[in-house]
Amino acid sequence: MIRYQDMTVADLDAVTAAEAGIYAFPWTRGNFADSLAAGHGAWLAREGGRMTGYAVVVQVLDEVHLLNISVLPELQRGGHGSALLDHIVAWARTHGATRMLLEVRPGNLAGQGFYLRHGFEEIGRRRDYYPARAGREDAVVMARKL
Ligand SMILES: CC(C)(COP(=O)(O)OP(=O)(O)OC[C@H]1O[C@@H](n2cnc3c(N)ncnc32)[C@H](O)[C@@H]1OP(=O)(O)O)[C@@H](O)C(=O)NCCC(=O)NCCS
Repeated sequence: MIRYQDMTVADLDAVTAAEAGIYAFPWTRGNFADSLAAGHGAWLAREGGRMTGYAVVVQVLDEVHLLNISVLPELQRGGHGSALLDHIVAWARTHGATRMLLEVRPGNLAGQGFYLRHGFEEIGRRRDYYPARAGREDAVVMARKL
C-alpha cells in the first residue's frame, strides 16, 4: 500500500539523493528546504517503508503550481507517478484550487506524455526558464482544470 506523508526536514537527505539520481539538473537540498520553509505542499510517497517518490507544489489563490513530481528511476512507469498526481489533485481540490499548472522541459517527452495522459495541455512557453548544457532552455507550460 502506498502512503503519502508530509515531507519534513528529516527527509531532505533521502530526497536530495533521489533527486540527484533522477535529473541532470537536480534541485538542491536548499531548494527543498526553502520550499518547506515557505510552507509549500510537499509529500513523500512510501510503500512498505521505502520512499517511492515525492512532490512539491505551491498554491496561489485558486491555482496550484506543480513544482516537482518525481518517481525513483527503477519504479518509473509503474503507476507511482499517476497515483501521486491523483493524491495532489485531491489535495488541491479540497484546498479550493480550480487549476493546476506546471513547467516541463521541451525535451522531456516522457514527462509531457505523462501530463497529457492526465489531462494537461500546453498553454505556452517560458523563454530561457531552465539551466541547460549550453546556456538556457525554454519551458513548456501546461495546465489543466481541476
Ligand atoms: C514523469 C514521472 C513523474 C511519471 O511517473 P511514472 O510513475 O513513471 O508514470 P506512470 O507509470 O504513472 O505513467 C502513467 C502514464 O504516463 C505516460 N508516461 C510515463 N512515463 C512515460 C515515458 N517514459 N514515455 C512515455 N510516456 C510515459 C504514459 O502514458 C503512462 O501510461 P502507460 O504506462 O499506461 O503508457 C516519472 O516518470 C519521473 O519521475 N520521471 C523523471 C522526472 C520527471 O521527468 N518529472 C517531471 C518533470 S516536469
